[in-house]
Amino acid sequence: MKALITGISGFVGSHLAEYLLKNNTEVYGTIRHRSRMNHIQHLMNDVNLVECELRDPFSVENLIQDVKPDLIFHLAAQSFVPTSWNSPIDTIHNNVAGQVNIFEAVRRFNLDCKIQIACSSEEYGYVDPTEVPITELNPIRPLSPYAISKVAQDYLGYQYYKSYGLHVVCTRTFNHTGPRRGENFVTSNFAKQIAEIEKGLKAPVLYVGNLQAQRDFTDVRDVVHAYWLALEKGDPGEVYNIASGSCCTIQEMLNLLLSLSTVQIEIKEDPARLRPSDVEILLGDYSKFHKKTGWKPEIPFTQTMEDLLNYWRAI
Ligand code: GDD
Repeated sequence: MKALITGISGFVGSHLAEYLLKNNTEVYGTIRHRSRMNHIQHLMNDVNLVECELRDPFSVENLIQDVKPDLIFHLAAQSFVPTSWNSPIDTIHNNVAGQVNIFEAVRRFNLDCKIQIACSSEEYGYVDPTEVPITELNPIRPLSPYAISKVAQDYLGYQYYKSYGLHVVCTRTFNHTGPRRGENFVTSNFAKQIAEIEKGLKAPVLYVGNLQAQRDFTDVRDVVHAYWLALEKGDPGEVYNIASGSCCTIQEMLNLLLSLSTVQIEIKEDPARLRPSDVEILLGDYSKFHKKTGWKPEIPFTQTMEDLLNYWRAI
């Protein structure tokens, strides 16, 4: 079995590569000339890396023709919500055009493969507190250009399944974290600040944005298992929530991190960290996916946060 991971050098890509290798799968992954390889340095002898610019149809055609994967895990994306306000066109172009290029190349070479699309709970956007837990039938009310790009990816998956019979499975993943999480994202950002304060590299002040938002966090190692099952057992043309089924405020997540450290830290709001519109609550119902695949999250949140903090302490 040959699997292709777009964005293999990223946070989720590196964990998925580890998971697939343990499952005796031959792993191929796309990188760009400017990709940082630190997350997959330990896998360099085990995976096959292909330089590919997903926005370029010729580059993607070469990739698909050369690799001829049985499975495609499409993870590569501009995935940081605030960046999408600064460069909305780039986010939408990157996320949407890259996926269309993959679909068209698969069609062109008549490849018989299964494709997982990493969609997002951000697609639900504005959620009234009475509308949780969120099922796949909740309204889609995106609140950022990033969310719009993910809605487009999601609906393109449905459209290519209906129009051409491509085996596309969309996973709407709620927040996920763990070791190697990019430092811009809230869990990693706070953990990194704490680790730096512990090491005396930074004054004992931790900068924060909106602490009232609520998020449903799953460990990345549970998430990559879900992605595998999505292609093994999920139905084409379907969309599945991947979530933990419980949520906490960002303040509560911060309190948990602080409880894992012994240093005294002052908390300060940084207005630059506030967003034009924030998604206030995301709490997912993953029962549709559980019924189909038997998946449920296994790693407790405290464990995830401890591993994340230790990751930053070790750097
Ligand atoms: N990044 C960041 N930094 N967020 C902060 C901070 C801070 O200092 N302080 C508070 N927050 C709040 C944000 O306003 C948001 O409500 C929440 O913490 C989570 O922010 P992020 O970690 O940046 O993630 P996200 O929820 O916007 O998006 C993530 O989850 C999506 C799935 O729901 C990303 O991983 C997306 O790529 C993913 O699709």
